[in-house]
Amino acid sequence: MSFPIQRPRRLRATETLRRMVRETSLSVDDLIMPLFVRPGTDVAEPIGSMPGNFRWSVDRLVGECREIHALGIPAVILFGIPEHKDATGSEGIAEDGIVQKATRALKNALPELCVITDVCLCEYTDHGHCGLIQDRDVANDPTVELLARMAVSHAQAGADMVAPSDMMDGRVGGIRRALDSAGFVNTPIMSYAAKFASAYYGPFRDAADSAPAFGDRRSYQMDPANAREAMREIELDLAEGADIVMVKPALAYLDIIREARARFDVPIAAYNVSGEFSMVKAAAEKGWIDHDRVMMESLLSIKRAGADLILTYFAKDTARVLSS
Ligand code: PBG
Ligand code: ZN
Repeated sequence: MSFPIQRPRRLRATETLRRMVRETSLSVDDLIMPLFVRPGTDVAEPIGSMPGNFRWSVDRLVGECREIHALGIPAVILFGIPEHKDATGSEGIAEDGIVQKATRALKNALPELCVITDVCLCEYTDHGHCGLIQDRDVANDPTVELLARMAVSHAQAGADMVAPSDMMDGRVGGIRRALDSAGFVNTPIMSYAAKFASAYYGPFRDAADSAPAFGDRRSYQMDPANAREAMREIELDLAEGADIVMVKPALAYLDIIREARARFDVPIAAYNVSGEFSMVKAAAEKGWIDHDRVMMESLLSIKRAGADLILTYFAKDTARVLSS
């Protein structure tokens, strides 16, 4: 039976009806705000390619997180910009490293805010790769050892969750074992499980000054053409002990989120990455699109595809729209 018996417009007639039959919703509970932290005091250094985002010193980061917490956003994820970068990314593992300091300050000031730490070497290495270089290649197993030490140092500083973003093989298992033997059996791992070698990370690399000095990340991050392989990556990370799995980027990979949702009964996170964010900001600045509407529609589409959690630089803007 079809038209004129079937009239889908009947249920679109009023906002009340539309509310009643709405299938997907976006909540402040879904949001995780990425933040950059750098050395110094009283610094809020604007990131040119990411309007409204800053490299914060620890003291100013605490102030920013007070606002984030007051908006009802449950979690932040921290990226560190060290004083000095070196071949092994040693500041990333130091007890007094920038993320470790920031985590301690945040857990002290805002114990309820969930502090997630990004675990990767690229922000700390002078060559900008996500692992140790041997023979002009990223050496997998020695990198996993360093990542495991980094994760433990974050947990010791009070991190509520660690999020490895390097894409080395076996790193979730390595981190899980290291956390467990250090007594952090209850620290969850959110793995960047299906992370693609994407041009959408451009503004982030500008923010963290982490573009690779030679070559690219295609020998460890995934080929954008591969959906089946993404499922295999997720499966492996779950087998190694991941608690939450992430798909990254989000908008150009909604099919991956959808497929992961269908196959795996674990929380799925999606990273609405820097390039996705900055494109909206730039077009809105030109007056070509409606900023808030495009933002909300984009994030809703990520939820609709099946994500439970969204890492997004729009977290504060979204929380404001949701509460207005
Ligand atoms: C580091 C890392 C990157 C992002 C998150 N963690 C950059 C990269 O892999 O080059 C990208 C985030 C974004 O673009 O917003 N491994
Ligand atoms: Zn990295």
